[in-house]
Amino acid sequence: MKRDLVGLSEWSQEEIWEVLELGIHLKREMRAGIKHDHILRGKTLAMIFQKPSLRTRVSFEVGMWQLGGYALYLGPEDIKLGQRESVEDVALNLSRYVDGIMARVFAHEVVEELARFATVPVINGLSDLLHPCQALADMLTIWEKKRKLEGLTIAFIGDGNNVANSLIEASAKLGLRFRIACPMGHEPSPRIVGEARSLGAEIEILHAPKEAAKDADVLYTDVWTSMGQEAEAEIRRKKFQGYTVDLDLLSLAKPDCLVMHCLPAHYGEEITYEAARSKNSAIFDQAENRLHAEKAVLALLLGGKV
Ligand code: CP
Ligand code: NVA
Repeated sequence: MKRDLVGLSEWSQEEIWEVLELGIHLKREMRAGIKHDHILRGKTLAMIFQKPSLRTRVSFEVGMWQLGGYALYLGPEDIKLGQRESVEDVALNLSRYVDGIMARVFAHEVVEELARFATVPVINGLSDLLHPCQALADMLTIWEKKRKLEGLTIAFIGDGNNVANSLIEASAKLGLRFRIACPMGHEPSPRIVGEARSLGAEIEILHAPKEAAKDADVLYTDVWTSMGQEAEAEIRRKKFQGYTVDLDLLSLAKPDCLVMHCLPAHYGEEITYEAARSKNSAIFDQAENRLHAEKAVLALLLGGKV
């Protein structure tokens, strides 16, 4: 049976830990000069992008190459997913050529549909609802820095978006507490919050950044305007005033609090340059760990170890 990564709610705690452990192992060995190009030798990954990307594209492409496989980039103009051809037909065609599909889409239903019709594994490289690969890399980063996950508190400052939703799913599976401070009307998905709470997770929805930041182990933020919401940018810039991770906010958190951001960052909006470059910042470790976490996902899904 093929396995997909559409969202972390479908993955068990054990499967998530398997990815984190394998990711750390691959990272250590790579740093020691050990090659892993036997793991996916001869395998191919199609990468569909409806939206721009730096980290997702580069980490998946480099990751496939380091594992001995090949990744091909299909940009918005190449296949015009759902316009030139239905999502179902794209999934069925690609499944005859490649061993896996990674897709960055607008509507979450599109990645769900790809997974439903493809006969090869489908990985969500970000949808309007979720960003599971980001959350896996982030958990790997926190674990690396703190040597534990259970019982830690993540304070998310800003929009209850795809990144926040996936962090909630990951926190629920791995035992972290999650607090968000967001403007009214920008809360994370009520369904995802409900599911996380039903697993026993502590999820708090707040509106005051200072309240959320107090004694946090991780201060996390993301852009106020996500890809696809550009028309709302001006309104959002006004609504999100004050939802900025800066050195003052950081001083309310624990002294060893990690400052995290999935990137790209808009310095001076959701995060100041000083906070992003402070000794607490882990933003480029997160970016690096996309590579290691995704290599683990690819090895498990395409290498047949799950
Ligand atoms: N964090 C992240 O997914 O970055 P990209 O949009 O550049 O891929
Ligand atoms: N929330 C952002 C994340 C970018 C990686 C967006 O969807 O644009």
